[in-house]
Amino acid sequence: MITVADALRAATAQLTQAGIAAAAGDARHLVAHAIGLDPDRLTLHLTDRFDPSAQARLQAALAARAGHQPVSQIIGSRLFWGRRFRVTRDVLDPRPETECLIAAALAQPFARVLDLGTGSGAILLTLLAERPAASGLGTDISAAALALARANAAALGLAARARFARADWCAGLAGPFDLIVANPPYIAAAEMAGLAPEVRDWEPHLALTPGGDGLEAYRRIAAGVGPLLAPDGVLLLEIGPSQSAPVTALLTAADLRCGPTLPDLDGRDRVAVARRS
Ligand SMILES: C[S@@+](CC[C@H](N)C(=O)[O-])C[C@H]1O[C@@H](n2cnc3c(N)ncnc32)[C@H](O)[C@@H]1O
Repeated sequence: MITVADALRAATAQLTQAGIAAAAGDARHLVAHAIGLDPDRLTLHLTDRFDPSAQARLQAALAARAGHQPVSQIIGSRLFWGRRFRVTRDVLDPRPETECLIAAALAQPFARVLDLGTGSGAILLTLLAERPAASGLGTDISAAALALARANAAALGLAARARFARADWCAGLAGPFDLIVANPPYIAAAEMAGLAPEVRDWEPHLALTPGGDGLEAYRRIAAGVGPLLAPDGVLLLEIGPSQSAPVTALLTAADLRCGPTLPDLDGRDRVAVARRS
């Protein structure tokens, strides 16, 4: 008889051999997925028999991971701010550092929120779930991303308070919003080749890079966001760690008043803050 612990050991060895850095943690997620368990509960089941019917699922998952597909895409979901979001190849895998943007947003009062480039809807839906009186709009240029965001809204019971619309950054949108958030694509074209294969080969390039110097989405948002902000409204933009100075300059040139950039948990610049002047 093969136990869950045996399957876990073999899966870890297989991923290690394939050169996957976090082999043990990934194996845990994939074994748990194969038997339909939450990874946090796997330890309680280590001596259980590993169902042979789960073996095919596990082997398919291990092959995908050995090909550098991200775990979240293989298992189809990602935990973000304590809630599970469906994730596919059509959207960015919501990142832990984006939780800094959530923390900053939740420090603000807001009833009407706009999330530009919503992807899976992780930011908008988290904010609405945390603020039961708020409603919001999530936009994206990707119709496939919007379909997934709508599905996530329904799964989280938030469909009545979350609207979604296809839009090219601020074009065609009407405010006012108390809070505008965005985690735009910000990787420079020249940096794309150096990304981990999990990111470069599996996540949508539309979600990763606007091309060129990586700042084009900030230029577009800075140029269009002012009229969408309520008089006391706040704009929070996730940025790459080296982008605070250029993004602040873009926002200031667009007649917005910038506060200090907020750091992430590693102390790197992560969230640009601006208000109407
Ligand atoms: C870095 S991802 C962020 C996704 C999600 N907000 C998150 O934080 O997980 C950037 C998103 O911007 C969208 N996007 C790219 N270009 C856009 C444009 N011109 N107008 C609106 N959204 C755009 C992408 O499709 C993608 O969903």
